[in-house]
Amino acid sequence: MFMTDNVFPARRTFMCASAVLGSAALLTACGDGHSEADTPEASSVPKPTGQSQVVMKLADLEVGARTSVQAKHPSGKEIPVLLFRPDEKTVLAFSSVCTHQGCVVTAESSQDDFFCACHGSRFKPADGTVLEGPAIAPLVRYATEIKNDQISVYVTES
Ligand code: FES
Repeated sequence: MFMTDNVFPARRTFMCASAVLGSAALLTACGDGHSEADTPEASSVPKPTGQSQVVMKLADLEVGARTSVQAKHPSGKEIPVLLFRPDEKTVLAFSSVCTHQGCVVTAESSQDDFFCACHGSRFKPADGTVLEGPAIAPLVRYATEIKNDQISVYVTES
């Protein structure tokens, strides 16, 4: 039997996701291919676990706005985290690791979405689901907390 696409893309996806935590230059090496993901539904917001970290003032993120902030990953590295404020009392946070091949997803988009420039995937800020592929799986969610006009995020390993 042959080595199939099922073998190499999984390894490449892992390597590209790892590159997000390392060099941005490596991200451009994450070429075309298909996603190994097969769960298109939005993941649920996780329970807060571990240490929270303040990432910005609530007043600096208007209702309806999305942005990207730097936060500390459990590995100790600074990583971008995507934020969206759907209403007065809620801020949602997502991993910026694209579920296609691991490039960095940004809030800098011409549309009301999160965008991955590597291959054009678009994600819905309200729940992280895919609006446009090639990505299939939704963005990983992080728990958030609003206290004393500050937004805190619980960044997890994923
Ligand atoms: S890595 Fe391909 S669309 Fe994001």
